[in-house]
Amino acid sequence: MDSILVRGGGKLSGQIPIAGAKNACLALMPATLLSDEPLTLTNAPRLSDIRTMTELLSSLGAEVTSLQEGKVLAMASHGPINTRAEYDIVRKMRASNLVLGPLLAREGHAEVSLPGGCAIGARPMDIHTDGLAKMGAQIDLRDGYLHAKADGGKLKGAVIDFPFASVGATENIMMAATLAKGTTVINNAAREPEIVDLADCLRAMGAQIDGDGTSTVTIQGVDRLHGATHRVVTDRIELGTYMLAPAICGGEVELLGGRIDLLAAFCEKLDAAGISVSETENGLSVTRREDQIRAVDVTTEPFPGFPTDLQAQMMALLCTANGTSVLEEKIFENRFMHAPELIRMGADIEVHGGTATVKGVSKLKGAPVMATDLRASVSLILAGMAAEGETTVSRVYHLDRGYEHVVTKLRGVGADIERIKS
Ligand code: UD1
Repeated sequence: MDSILVRGGGKLSGQIPIAGAKNACLALMPATLLSDEPLTLTNAPRLSDIRTMTELLSSLGAEVTSLQEGKVLAMASHGPINTRAEYDIVRKMRASNLVLGPLLAREGHAEVSLPGGCAIGARPMDIHTDGLAKMGAQIDLRDGYLHAKADGGKLKGAVIDFPFASVGATENIMMAATLAKGTTVINNAAREPEIVDLADCLRAMGAQIDGDGTSTVTIQGVDRLHGATHRVVTDRIELGTYMLAPAICGGEVELLGGRIDLLAAFCEKLDAAGISVSETENGLSVTRREDQIRAVDVTTEPFPGFPTDLQAQMMALLCTANGTSVLEEKIFENRFMHAPELIRMGADIEVHGGTATVKGVSKLKGAPVMATDLRASVSLILAGMAAEGETTVSRVYHLDRGYEHVVTKLRGVGADIERIKS
């Protein structure tokens, strides 16, 4: 298995291009199942999660062609559709559950494997299934698969109150509702930029959706959707991750394609920590104002709050802050697995339940560490860039799920990092 070798030290300078959002693209791709006309996505990221979704959609009978080295995905679902999403593919990635809504909307029935456990928490699917049940679907769990069937073969509009603003459930219900009979209202919907991006794409396909980006999304069902071409929104998590590189190492880096509105709460915390973020013609520029980072407290929340997907990377920054920071994880129950690895690098962190207390130390020290999930793995790379000596991050397949060309991008701004092939 490959690993990543990082030697800490120097300041960074230069530019990093930010890719299209993994999480947006994973929701946009299943939208191809809603129409028999072609759907083309541009600005797609080149990631193993996108290849997994390609494999899943192909197994369902969709055609997915990767063009321009993967930056363009040309999709079409005009042939017969297989409605069974197999465990062997679904288990690789939770976002596979996003085919449930589109399959049910198009074919009136679907059998989708439950994704199973995931390192950062249990992540059930009750919000998705309760919503679809309100729209007239009968859903049973048998043999590890959700067997869903729409009453009379067609979903009906409904008013759905989410107990929590789940991103995936908002996406699934929104897609299902585009072809349902009547109007669907989602109350307490997720407001993430990826939801707005999906709504933009669905509207380009002829869907009638209002209120995306707010807590109440209204979808008026239509008889059919047509083809479209859509550009995937900037990846705000990749953006935030690379914003932390000059914050941790010093120097100045421009993030091409970066937008503050995608990460306002995160930018506020960076400012409080002593990091300046300014808008440039082509994106955002990030630089550290003082020699030492200031401690800040962080609580993860649904958008527009501080994203859980940047909590591990922020912790890497705060390990060398002047003072004590408290990080509260409110979205996932088990998302501090990077803490023991950071402690191996000399960090002073105590975890109690969903709270991590980080006492800043003057310097981290390089060590062999192990990535436990996608965001944890990149937090260890960031920590390695700030540490004295060498850090080897193993199990980097997690990284390949969500960061394209991470080594090239960081080397481009002067980081001493390489991938060691096994
Ligand atoms: C998405 C993102 C993920 C991000 C998360 C929160 C994708 C592909 N993934 O995941 O990177 O960390 O949003 O911003 O977009 N929950 C339930 N029942 C459900 C659904 C969710 O209890 O039916 C719980 C989950 O266990 C979790 C919380 O709600 O504790 C948030 O989950 P959700 O917003 O659904 O996240 P995902 O869509 O899985």
